[in-house]
This record gives sequence, structure tokens and C-alpha cells, in this order.
Amino acid sequence: MSTEKIIEYYNQLASDYDENRFGNSYGQFIDFQERKILNKIFKTKSNNVLDLACGSGRLSNYATSGADASEEMLKIAKKKFPKNEFFLAQSNQLPFENESFERCFTFHFIMHLNKENFEKTINEVHRILSKNGTFVFDIPVKNRRKILNQNKADWHAALSFDQKEIEKLINNKFEIKRKFSILFIPIHRIPTQFRKFFLTFDFLLSNFGLLKNFSSYHIYELKKL
Ligand SMILES: C[S@@+](CC[C@H](N)C(=O)[O-])C[C@H]1O[C@@H](n2cnc3c(N)ncnc32)[C@H](O)[C@@H]1O
Repeated sequence: MSTEKIIEYYNQLASDYDENRFGNSYGQFIDFQERKILNKIFKTKSNNVLDLACGSGRLSNYATSGADASEEMLKIAKKKFPKNEFFLAQSNQLPFENESFERCFTFHFIMHLNKENFEKTINEVHRILSKNGTFVFDIPVKNRRKILNQNKADWHAALSFDQKEIEKLINNKFEIKRKFSILFIPIHRIPTQFRKFFLTFDFLLSNFGLLKNFSSYHIYELKKL
């Protein structure tokens, strides 16, 4: 799917996005796990944090600025976080000076990109981060897809890499500090009323030994070199 079509999709979804994606127990489960990891990574406060592809600002409480290519998504984010600054921009051409941010994170976004655009985005994030700055992003796990035969995911989750491929792509720019995993348990198959009881168990299983490589998403914490 072209970038223009993806942006159009989010412009149309914007007013329903929070409810549609995170108003149900599956979305809340993911949101909880992602916040747990962000709380671990960002233990201290920073005045320079970019939420890239911030969408409706779901996680913008961890940021001071947000950037997104959808005007309609940004309108919602601005209402929720009037003290943050928001910018209409694509990830491969960000309107910021070199070394403007100490931290940048992006969720549910990299998987929409093609490899070329991912590389450009990595370069842009590298440019706008200060030395030793932190970049956090999530990506679907390739091994999981292989065993579940889901290699042909639709555009929503078209991109997935294993750690070796990520290392190659970030070579000389970033080092991997930590890698977290979420959603080992196929939570969509658990009856809604029981899902919350699996929150801690899923985090433990997802991050246990080799199981790490077979959970649904990896969350990488990178350090700019
Ligand atoms: C699934 S939403 C994720 C929003 C938010 N990060 C979250 O986790 O809830 C994906 C977001 O990426 C934005 N987006 C899509 N393509 C983009 C691009 N090339 N550059 C910047 N943002 C883009 C969309 O407008 C949308 O807000």
C-alpha cells in the first residue's frame, strides 16, 4: 500500500481510532504491555522526547513532541496533550534540527513501512537524536510468522525482521541495548473476561529464554552510537 493511501486510511479512521483499536480488551492488553516496557525504559524524565507516528497521542504522555503524517490523527493528539508540540511530517523527512531529541519512540508504525522507507526512517531518527540517545520501536516477530504460516501479512503488518536483520540495518548507527517481547499467548483466543489474568503470565513467557523468539512483537531499545 502506498504511503498516500496509508495516510488517507488513518485520516478516515482518526475519530474512531482509540475506540476501534484500544477500546476492547485485546487492545487494552497490548496497551498495558507496551506501557509496562516504556516505564522500564524511561525511568527518568526528559524534556526532549519525540513520539514518532504518534497517531492520536495514545502514548504521548511519555513524550514532549509528536510527529505524524495524518492531519486528522494529529488533531486528536493535540486535544489530548495541549502542552506537547505536534508536527505534520513523514518519518523519512522530519522537520527537526540535527540532535534535537534525547529520546524517540514509535509504536504500531514500523510494520507499515517497506524496507527502503524503514532505512530512511532509521537514518532520520539517527540524525535527530543526540549522542547516546534512545530509540524504541516495535516490530512483528518473523519466527512467529513462519511457524504460524503468516508470511503474507496484509499492509498493516507488512514488515518484520529478525534480530540479525535489524543489526544489519542499524549497523554503525545504533546498538541494541535491550529487546523485549510481548504477546506469546494468543490472547485473542482467550475469552474476554479472562484476558486480564494473563497480563503478567504473558510478559513472563514472552521474555523467557528461547520463547522470546516466538512471541508476536519485539520491542527494541537502541542507543545511538
Ligand atoms: C497504527 S497508528 C499508531 C499510532 C500510535 N503510535 C499508537 O501506537 O497508537 C500508525 C500511525 O502512523 C502514521 N503514519 C503512517 N505513515 C506514516 C509516515 N510515513 N510517516 C509518519 N507517520 C505515518 C499514521 O498516520 C498513524 O497515525
